[in-house]
Amino acid sequence: MIKEKQLRFQIQTKSTTYLFEVTESGHLKHYYYGPVLSEKDAENWDISSSVGWGCALLYRQDDPSSSLHTTPLEWSGSGCGDYRESPIELEDADRVLTTDFRYVSHKIYSGEEPRHFLWPRAEGAEETLEVCLSDPEIAMDLHLYWSVFDDVICRKAVLLNKGNDPRYVRKLMSFCVDFSGEYRMMNLHGDWIREAHTETAPVGYSRIVNESLTGFSSNQHNPAFAVMTEQTTEWSGDAYGFNLIYSGNHYASMARSSANLTRIMQGISPANFRFELAPGEALETPDAVMTFSAEGLNGMSRNLHEFVNNSLVPAYWRYRERPILYNSWEGCMFDFNERKLLGLAKEAKRLGCELFVLDDGWFGTRNDDTQGLGDYNVNMKKLPHGLTGLAERINKIGLQFGLWFEPEAVNENSDLYRMHPDWVLQEPGRKPLQGRNEYLLDLRMECVRDYIVKSVSDVLDSANITYVKWDMNRHSNVLGAGSMEYVLGLYDVMHRIFDPRPEILLESCASGGNRFDLGMMTISPQIWASDNTDPMERLYTQKGLSYFYPQSTMGCHVSASPHMQTMRHSEMETRANVAFFGDLGYELDLDHVTYENKKKIREQIKFYKQYQRIFQFGTFYRYDTDENHEQWQVSDGDCSFVGVFRRQVSAAPGYEKLFIYALDPEQEYHVTTRPQNVNLSTVGGSINLLSPIKINPNGPLFYVADHRIHITAASEDRTHTGRALAGGFVPVPLFAGSGYDGRQRLVGDGGSELYVIEKTGK
Ligand code: DGJ
Repeated sequence: MIKEKQLRFQIQTKSTTYLFEVTESGHLKHYYYGPVLSEKDAENWDISSSVGWGCALLYRQDDPSSSLHTTPLEWSGSGCGDYRESPIELEDADRVLTTDFRYVSHKIYSGEEPRHFLWPRAEGAEETLEVCLSDPEIAMDLHLYWSVFDDVICRKAVLLNKGNDPRYVRKLMSFCVDFSGEYRMMNLHGDWIREAHTETAPVGYSRIVNESLTGFSSNQHNPAFAVMTEQTTEWSGDAYGFNLIYSGNHYASMARSSANLTRIMQGISPANFRFELAPGEALETPDAVMTFSAEGLNGMSRNLHEFVNNSLVPAYWRYRERPILYNSWEGCMFDFNERKLLGLAKEAKRLGCELFVLDDGWFGTRNDDTQGLGDYNVNMKKLPHGLTGLAERINKIGLQFGLWFEPEAVNENSDLYRMHPDWVLQEPGRKPLQGRNEYLLDLRMECVRDYIVKSVSDVLDSANITYVKWDMNRHSNVLGAGSMEYVLGLYDVMHRIFDPRPEILLESCASGGNRFDLGMMTISPQIWASDNTDPMERLYTQKGLSYFYPQSTMGCHVSASPHMQTMRHSEMETRANVAFFGDLGYELDLDHVTYENKKKIREQIKFYKQYQRIFQFGTFYRYDTDENHEQWQVSDGDCSFVGVFRRQVSAAPGYEKLFIYALDPEQEYHVTTRPQNVNLSTVGGSINLLSPIKINPNGPLFYVADHRIHITAASEDRTHTGRALAGGFVPVPLFAGSGYDGRQRLVGDGGSELYVIEKTGK
């Protein structure tokens, strides 16, 4: 709900209130963003005047409180006494322009406002407030927007050139706001195979910047960030979440001013940005997303997850369960033929998978990553019956069929490059650089976009393909506005391919999570989170992403051990326990999986399928843990799953209890563990502490038994009320070589348990 009374605006979401007003001088003064206020409070607020002091410039000489520098604002310019960072920078042909946008009019739309540009956006806004500002001295108008979703507000800006000369936009943020108080900023940093690690820092008087300059939203700095106080935990305290519906270079900054106001802004990165705005033209920013919760970071995540699931992902895939897939990449790489693939598909089907994905290597001369990219003609040597024949055979086995593409890139050694070297994204006069032996295609060119749309569409129509993995494996080499135009071209291509085929599940990927952002999610409901599937590494990545993105958007696979990138050994059960908290898949050579591990996989898939809805769409909670532990929970209200993960075992850890929250304190719950079978090789010679006969852990008998016999571990079965479970009524016994009755955890470093908590109805 949006209300206005005497130019005081009240924006009401399900559980928050946002207040600002138009000042006498026409500027927008921010007042409040926090827990929902009573009608009376929301109407009777009074901004105490900030007094101009010292060398502050007064906006109006007759008003000592009119310094813009000491006023909390919803937008600001430069050159009029506000010395904080400005969300806008403009030039004309000769000089940098002073900017001072002031109120002219406003409008409240039911739903969304009329569109200007082409950015992807969320659907289903309840109401939208448009405030029109103008700076007549430079003949420019600025329209600001606040759109209300359940517990999210989307903001953006549209700049219009009303003059007779071109203007040059050097910077235009999607929003700017000033909060009073002291805050910390948490953001996600990383690289390839190390995506979405969290970093938290106090916001001081020097600016903190979270920015990507790689051309994409990037694995180095994800656009999402959280703002919180020192007291905020996962479960309590104030937490603000911000994000941008955009897949290119982004920018967000925070800094405290000398007057102790914290300015926050976010938008397209201004680095090297220069966009010509001809007379009569408009430039629209992508939407920024903001939310607030007084229930800590879990509350913030819940708001953002619901927003993505309800309003952002393509309509067809909202709350539609994602199939359990088998992907050929880590098992086969480029080395496969139809026989091998069909063998894998049969095995994947036997294990319970629902979708078979053929990854890289199926076309042209693509036998390694130096060649063939761009030539989407099927390699008939590998696939003699073509994709049509392969898809038919896979469907006959009982699986859906999915296919990999990397449509934005081209190898130098490809027919496409030989035919169109000029299609490569490059700056005039400079040799483009390669990354993973590839160039990017210039998606700013219409003929290139048409080519991609046609070549991908033709393949999709040639066989029964129900899933596409859209990969992209390098950073960009084009700067500023050029890279923004590339991103617009990308959205155009993807919409033209997938809008007419809404039932195809698109999983976007960029060397893993190099483009894990809300812009992609408007087209691609699922994104490959990381090429690193080592479960201990995935704890960092999936946890980091979970602050801002729901489990339904995260592709999470079980792969081989030791892991390809870390050489770390892990238990098959831990690999699954981590991958369960997302869209489950398997990615390993099934011909190399032991009979015992296949049995485990079959059980894992059976279990996941039973609760798929809760794992993919349930409410997600993180617990406040130390560096060595993670505890996650998903819940649909009646049934919860709690994953407990340990990076390293500590000897004699003492008395440990499991605390389970987010339950009804009055209700009764049955707590069990997902049965975990531990191989003999996990316990080694210690088996002799339990075995009636002595076994040589290096002998043949042990080897045979290892593949046949399992030990049950960490089994639990008890009933308590929600209040008792929140009070730590579940003990967690650790095996210490001194006794074992099936309840102890037996797995060492990297061990995990998955608890199932079901309401008994009593
Ligand atoms: C990078 C992706 O992240 C991988 O999953 C795989 O698809 C390879 N590219 C294929 O080249």
